[in-house]
Amino acid sequence: MIIGHRGVAALAPENTLSGIRKAAECGLDWVEIDTQLSADGIPVIFHDDTVERCTDGNGKLETFNVSALKNLDAGSWFDKAHSDERIPTLEETLAFCLDEGVSINLEIKVYRDAQVAPLVEAVSAVLASSAFPAEKLLISSFSKNALMRCKAAIPQCRFGFIADKRNISDLDAFDDVGLYSVHVDHRMLTSELAKEIKSKGYILNVWTLNECEKADAFIGMGVDNIITDDPTLFNLK
Ligand code: G3P
Ligand code: MG
Repeated sequence: MIIGHRGVAALAPENTLSGIRKAAECGLDWVEIDTQLSADGIPVIFHDDTVERCTDGNGKLETFNVSALKNLDAGSWFDKAHSDERIPTLEETLAFCLDEGVSINLEIKVYRDAQVAPLVEAVSAVLASSAFPAEKLLISSFSKNALMRCKAAIPQCRFGFIADKRNISDLDAFDDVGLYSVHVDHRMLTSELAKEIKSKGYILNVWTLNECEKADAFIGMGVDNIITDDPTLFNLK
């Protein structure tokens, strides 16, 4: 029912191994994390286009080689006690999650369409060389292009379309290819949209819900999973 957002973003630095460990300590089976490419083509776990907010560095993430990213402090911004935190690679994260018994909702994070092809290729290669099982993985994206390419490259995986007001019109494009799930911005989810998504046979997830008092209404609409920064707010697992 509960998926930790960017690990558990309210309780540990987002998109870090500490965050994933914290999610496991909270009893969560699933975390949502974001992946993008370093300048040298390595998929790393990071949300923003630039490194300022979540590290002590400056500039666009895609301009840093992975070795330079590894020199950044990815934890002090959250809490000084996390100053040793590093940006993890996807490869490291898959191994870590396997050890921790945590399943991954991996968001293919795209800021420019030109990023899609190299990112999907690199993510597919990392997944192919990893022992991480397909049934413990759900790949999601706002980008229709990214999902279509992933479906072709990694057909054994499940796929989720992340929808907000800007791209909800892309949902119909998946009618012929199918999806596992649709992940809707909770601020735009109506009963009608929930009904439409469920009638297509998809699992329905909402993000990023940090108000537990709204959970019952969403569950009443047929929501299957809640993606939240803080699972301790909910009496759900
Ligand atoms: O996967 C749902 C959610 O993570 C999408 O928004 O910006 O937090 O990646 P964002
Ligand atoms: Mg995300």
